[in-house]
Amino acid sequence: MNIKQEILKAFREHPDQFISGEHLSQLCHCSRTAVWKHIEELRQEGYEFEAVRRSGYRLVTAPDRIAAEEIAAGLETETIGHTVYAYDTVVTTQQLAHEAAGKGAPEGTLVVADQQTGGRGRLGRVWHSPKGTGIWMSLILRPHIELTRAPQMTLLTAVAMARAVQSETGLEAQIKWPNDILINEKKVCGILTELNAESDRINYLVIGIGINVNQQPQDYPPELRSTATSLRIEAGQPFHRAMLIQTFCKQFEQLYREYLEHGFAPIKARWEAYATTLGKMLTVRTQHTTIEGRAVGLDPDGVLVVEDRDGVRHKVYSADIEQGANR
Ligand code: BTN
Repeated sequence: MNIKQEILKAFREHPDQFISGEHLSQLCHCSRTAVWKHIEELRQEGYEFEAVRRSGYRLVTAPDRIAAEEIAAGLETETIGHTVYAYDTVVTTQQLAHEAAGKGAPEGTLVVADQQTGGRGRLGRVWHSPKGTGIWMSLILRPHIELTRAPQMTLLTAVAMARAVQSETGLEAQIKWPNDILINEKKVCGILTELNAESDRINYLVIGIGINVNQQPQDYPPELRSTATSLRIEAGQPFHRAMLIQTFCKQFEQLYREYLEHGFAPIKARWEAYATTLGKMLTVRTQHTTIEGRAVGLDPDGVLVVEDRDGVRHKVYSADIEQGANR
């Protein structure tokens, strides 16, 4: 951690409290002049500090930045999010994450951007990623699991994000199979898992996550307004993106550990508790066919099982689904 990160971490750990320059200089192993210089730099970056003689400094407001030091300050994980590459504008964080993973980036590395000009969605779609409002990030993982189990990581990620959203905002999140997070039936987050593998061995996974955090209705193109929403629209208040990333990392790490130790069963149960898809009538469009039927559940491996009108059960691995009413 650099000095700025240490300073921010100290203020995060003591919200609303004054911390003396002396104490900060001890924490950061630097002089009081260096502390003062870094506080001035943070001010330039938009942090607001109150300074009181003899009491020290108090952090009043932090800008909604997704810089590496903002994510590192107060991160409560052992690996997830420990290495962060943060950018202003990129084409897509997925590509950068693949490049970083190819060069050996460690498990848990996050590539985050404030804006994407070529955000990628599932099934070859475009992912709208405007500046300064959402979280556009890709997580690199190197799990020792069979190739066929990779889609389970997508379901796990959806549970981690649903939990993070609920704990940061108080909003009730639901998951639409396989990995859309919905609030009041509108999409707030999408997940795209890509992998690099050889025969049956996964070299690495890149899990791309897009969360609409602080968009206002007018920030959406008209064609998305009826189906997409943001945390701000639903809660009526803005949220600090770096804090949501930290909470996500913590939730993800807990679930990932549970998964590596106990397999998919506990994750499946948690996914089902958030699922809005199960029991619903669906129109399932795969690459080759369209099935109409009821979602009866996930099989033990996490594959969606849909029963059509003739009672035939279909395993759905990858598809676009349209949800109807309960039946
Ligand atoms: C979906 O279609 O629902 C998945 C959307 C995934 C979007 C994220 S944003 C960060 C990462 N970079 C991309 O280009 N896509 C993913």
